[in-house]
Amino acid sequence: MRVAVLISGRGSNLRSLLEAAAEPAFPAEIVTVIANRPGAGGLDHAATFSVPHQTIDHKAYADRAAFEAALTAALEAAAVELICLAGFMRVLSAGFVRRWQGRIVNIHPSLLPLFPGLDTHARALAAGVKLHGCSVHFVSEGVDEGAIIGQAAVPVFADDDPDRLAARVLQAEHRLYPHCLRLLAESRVRLAGGRAVVEAGGADGPALFNPDPGA
Ligand code: GAR
Repeated sequence: MRVAVLISGRGSNLRSLLEAAAEPAFPAEIVTVIANRPGAGGLDHAATFSVPHQTIDHKAYADRAAFEAALTAALEAAAVELICLAGFMRVLSAGFVRRWQGRIVNIHPSLLPLFPGLDTHARALAAGVKLHGCSVHFVSEGVDEGAIIGQAAVPVFADDDPDRLAARVLQAEHRLYPHCLRLLAESRVRLAGGRAVVEAGGADGPALFNPDPGA
């Protein structure tokens, strides 16, 4: 499966996907990395793995439609079959999302549908939840609302601050996203009634990692 990864920043999730895809048996190939911000740190990871990468700076376009037209042209030129958003911080229009329906996924740093949007770790701490985590989901027209493919949970400790919690969730993200990409590339995820159904089987088990309080 030919995959594009879209980033805005440091790209640690991109790096985990690149590492997974570097395994010869991995069923997906990352064929292009696109950043919407010049100098996004993640572009260096793409270079390290010799993956074609480019910046499509949203600020260089008159409006969202023009930016997304450039994005679509680049994705089509690379014959992309699946888009992985990895810390891509631009909201995509309904038209773009419809164009890629069922072929665009995102990673979000919370156990959706809790805490969509920004500042998820501070909000989780304020809410006093004892489990937090991350979700990989299909992108739909509503922000952080699409069908959930997989989730990983981590414990929340009494002395956590947002940074400590974010670091723990990020470790889980780095395991979850490659796992979900594998499921997608092996066609083990299908949409049914607005939900993502994951077929069991294979060596990896379901896309759920339980928290290990001893970790
Ligand atoms: C990750 O924590 C990702 O879940 C989050 O941004 C971070 C990007 O880090 N995404 C969102 O908040 C999307 N709404 P990275 O650039 O190191 O992968």
